[in-house]
Amino acid sequence: MRPTSEHGRPEATGAAVRRGPFRAGERVQLTDPKGKLHTIALQENATFHTHRGYFRHDDIIGQPEGCVVRTTSGIEYLALRPLLSDYTLSMPRGAAVVYPKDAGQIVAMADIFPGARVIEAGVGSGALTLSLLRAVGDSGSVHSIERREDFAAIARGNVEAFFGGPHPAWSLSRGDLADVLPLVAEPGTVDRIVLDMLAPWENLDVTAAALAPGGVLVCYVATTTQLSRLAEDLRDHGGFAEPEAWETMVRSWHLEGLAVRPNHRMVGHTGFLLTARRMADGVEAPVRRRRPSKGNYPTTSEEWTPEDLGERTVSDKKVRRVRRDVGQAANPEA
Ligand SMILES: C[S@@+](CC[C@H](N)C(=O)[O-])C[C@H]1O[C@@H](n2cnc3c(N)ncnc32)[C@H](O)[C@@H]1O
Repeated sequence: MRPTSEHGRPEATGAAVRRGPFRAGERVQLTDPKGKLHTIALQENATFHTHRGYFRHDDIIGQPEGCVVRTTSGIEYLALRPLLSDYTLSMPRGAAVVYPKDAGQIVAMADIFPGARVIEAGVGSGALTLSLLRAVGDSGSVHSIERREDFAAIARGNVEAFFGGPHPAWSLSRGDLADVLPLVAEPGTVDRIVLDMLAPWENLDVTAAALAPGGVLVCYVATTTQLSRLAEDLRDHGGFAEPEAWETMVRSWHLEGLAVRPNHRMVGHTGFLLTARRMADGVEAPVRRRRPSKGNYPTTSEEWTPEDLGERTVSDKKVRRVRRDVGQAANPEA
C-alpha cells in the first residue's frame, strides 16, 4: 500500500524519497568550499576520496539534509539532495538533455496540468520526462516513445532512480513515433504532445490525429532552420492554429558583498520552443494576413524578397522625401 500524506491522501510518487534523513542508495550532492559540485550515490562502508583526504559515506547516511561532512584533512562538504534541476544536469546521459530552463517553459507554456494525457518523443535521457511526470502527477499519464533502445534504457534508469522506483503515470515504448503513436493513443484523445527530435515536421499527421481539439503541440528544436521548416509545415498542414515560437535566456548572478552583478558566463543557446494548438476536425484556421511562403529554402537571391523576410517595404515617395531631408534630392535632369 502507498504511504499516505498528513492529509490522509496517498503520498505522491517520489515525495517520500525527497524527505527525511539520508538513506543508503540515494544520490547526494556535495558542495566543496569553492562551490564545486560532486554527486555521489550513498553506499554503506564506501568512502569518498578527494585530493585532500576522504570521508566515509556512513558519516552522511542517517544525517539530515543540509549537514556538513569533513574529510580526514578537515575539508568541509555540504550535503544536500539534488533538486530536479540539479539531477537532470548531473544524471547519466546518452542524448543531450532538455535544460531546466526549457523544461520549465514547456511545462508552463504547453499547460501540462495534473491529470493530463501527454505523449513525449523522443525520450533521450529522460530529463524532460521527469518534469512532465511531476506536472501530470500520479493521476495523469506520460507515454514516452523512443526509437533507440539504449537511450530508452538510460531514460528508464534515470526516471526510476529519481522517483525511487517506477512511476505509475509513466509508460515507455520503443519505436518510431509515427508507428507507435497510433497504437498507443485513440484518435483525438491526447491533451499535449511534446516533440524533442531532429525532424518533428515528419510527424505532423500522426500528431494531429492523436491530439484532442484544443490540444497543444510543443516542439523543441536547436536551430532556426528547423524552426522555420516546422512553422511552415504546420501552416501547410491546416490542422493547427498559428504557431508561436520563442527562446529563453537565463542570466545567473554573482552575489558577493558589493559585487552584485550578472555572472560573466552563461548558457548562450539551448533551443527554440514552438507551440501550436490543434483545431477542431474539419475547421480551418482563420487565415493570417501574410504572404504565402514560396518555399522553405529559396535558392536564388530573387526569391528572398523583403516581404518574405517580414521586412517593411519603403515607398519611392518616402525615399524621395528622405533624400530631400538629408540634402540629397535627386536631380530631375540627371
Ligand atoms: C535530444 S534527444 C531527447 C532528449 C530528452 N528530451 C531529454 O530531455 O533527455 C532526441 C531523441 O529523439 C529520438 N528520436 C528522434 N526521432 C524520433 C522518432 N521519430 N521517434 C522516436 N524517437 C525519436 C532520438 O533517438 C533521441 O533519443
